[in-house]
Amino acid sequence: LVLLLVALGLRSRRPRSFPPGPWALPLVGNMLSLDFNNLHNDMTKLAEQYGNVYSLKMGHVWTVVLNGFSTLQEGLSKGDHMSDRPAFPIHTDVLPDLGIVFASGYSWKQQRQFALSTLKYFGVGKKSHESSILEEFRYMSKEIASHKGKPFNLQFLMKNAVSNIICSLIFGHRFDYKDEKFLQLITLLDKGVQIEGSIWAQLYNSFPVLMRRLPGPHHTLQKGYRDIMDFIKTEINKHREDWNPSDPRDFIDCFLTEIQKHQDKRDDELDACFDEGNLVKCSFDLFGAGTETTSITLRWGVLYMAKYTEIQEKVQEEIDSVIGQSREPSMEDRPNMPYTDAVIHEIQRIGNVVPFNLPHVTNKDVQIGGYTIPKGVIVVPNLTSVLFDKNEWETPNTFNPGHFLNKEGKFVQRAAFIPFSVGKRVCLGENLARIELFLLFTSFLQRFTFSMPPGVEAVFKPRVSIFLSPQPYQICATLREE
Ligand code: HEM
Repeated sequence: LVLLLVALGLRSRRPRSFPPGPWALPLVGNMLSLDFNNLHNDMTKLAEQYGNVYSLKMGHVWTVVLNGFSTLQEGLSKGDHMSDRPAFPIHTDVLPDLGIVFASGYSWKQQRQFALSTLKYFGVGKKSHESSILEEFRYMSKEIASHKGKPFNLQFLMKNAVSNIICSLIFGHRFDYKDEKFLQLITLLDKGVQIEGSIWAQLYNSFPVLMRRLPGPHHTLQKGYRDIMDFIKTEINKHREDWNPSDPRDFIDCFLTEIQKHQDKRDDELDACFDEGNLVKCSFDLFGAGTETTSITLRWGVLYMAKYTEIQEKVQEEIDSVIGQSREPSMEDRPNMPYTDAVIHEIQRIGNVVPFNLPHVTNKDVQIGGYTIPKGVIVVPNLTSVLFDKNEWETPNTFNPGHFLNKEGKFVQRAAFIPFSVGKRVCLGENLARIELFLLFTSFLQRFTFSMPPGVEAVFKPRVSIFLSPQPYQICATLREE
């Protein structure tokens, strides 16, 4: 037993020349000393003790955490050396292929490039796509107005509506807000995201052989992912029935054309990862990433407006003077609406929706902050440490649109505003998300005034998972024309 304990103790020692960090226990490492319901703050506080580059052991996996704007910039600007992702057993056990979000190397580059050019082909960033976002708002607005100013929870309506924008691009159509099957899917996604950020997922990734056999929420997560994939496969099969390569309707049609092209190649010419497994996984990635993040940000936005009514009024004044009530917002309005733009940026900063970023992995030895991070180590570029950095923001813990305004009230871009991350892995949907946020947020406040139900206080303590989202809340939305 003594020998075993000594061996375990030696195994859990920090490798030489590794960044410092808290003492790691044998087997579980630092997992038990972290509060998974407050992980973003715990991780940021550790930097005060160990410096901007420190290391943690999650189970038996060493992880380096980067903190502070300049350290993240240094780390994420290492080109291809930092652009791979770790392969987590909780995903690889159920998901068919690499897709985009968790792919590395050539396959990732190819799929990312393809997804970006396909989104562009279907008009993201162009007027035609703006109108489809505004059309979705019209559906949503009808639904919100139907509550006649009475308290309701807009969580799933928001998810469904935002998801419809990405679904129209992937599947070529939107889903009705009462579509049971679709509601079930976004509920599964919501649950999945919660479990992804829990200790269960960490345990699974550290001890997959054991966890595969043990009951627990990790099986719910994997079942949810399988159901979402089945749904996507059904959509793909429907597409195959009336697919016309010369008239692509959406992402799936374009991908089917690529699969066809690659099937026609000789074996020695094959250099691509266009197959059905990757089509399912890429659609899954775009659906997941495009649904949660933007809808959570907008839910934070509504909550902040209901709490800070004077800020809501100022945004509405700007909307009334620049857009008025007789037409819908357009992206061309944004440069003329510095206050609204600043409020949206501040919602993103303080909402801190992707608190730890997504994990990266080094594919060569890399120098960061004076340490050599060896090849194959997981790196977490902690976005919380930048969005709340007291050296970058005047009042980091207060909702203050002034962070993005100069003395004359003009909008100012801040370098430390990096909710979409930076570098080669920067969010693929940044452009789309920024358009959605501006058009939907201004549309909301053009048409409605939000308030908390009488006697209810807004709660800003987030629900922590891989995303930070508001706790479910009830809101009143009053039509402004009234
Ligand atoms: C990746 C944030 C909306 C698709 C990411 C990453 C962040 C992020 C922090 C990780 C970057 C890194 O690893 O360094 C956000 C935020 C959003 C948003 C804050 C909204 C407010 C969207 C939307 C889409 C999307 C609407 C839909 C197309 C993706 C994809 C990746 C990604 C596919 C993986 C990129 C890759 O690994 O190459 N996002 N995102 N995101 N995002 Fe977003």
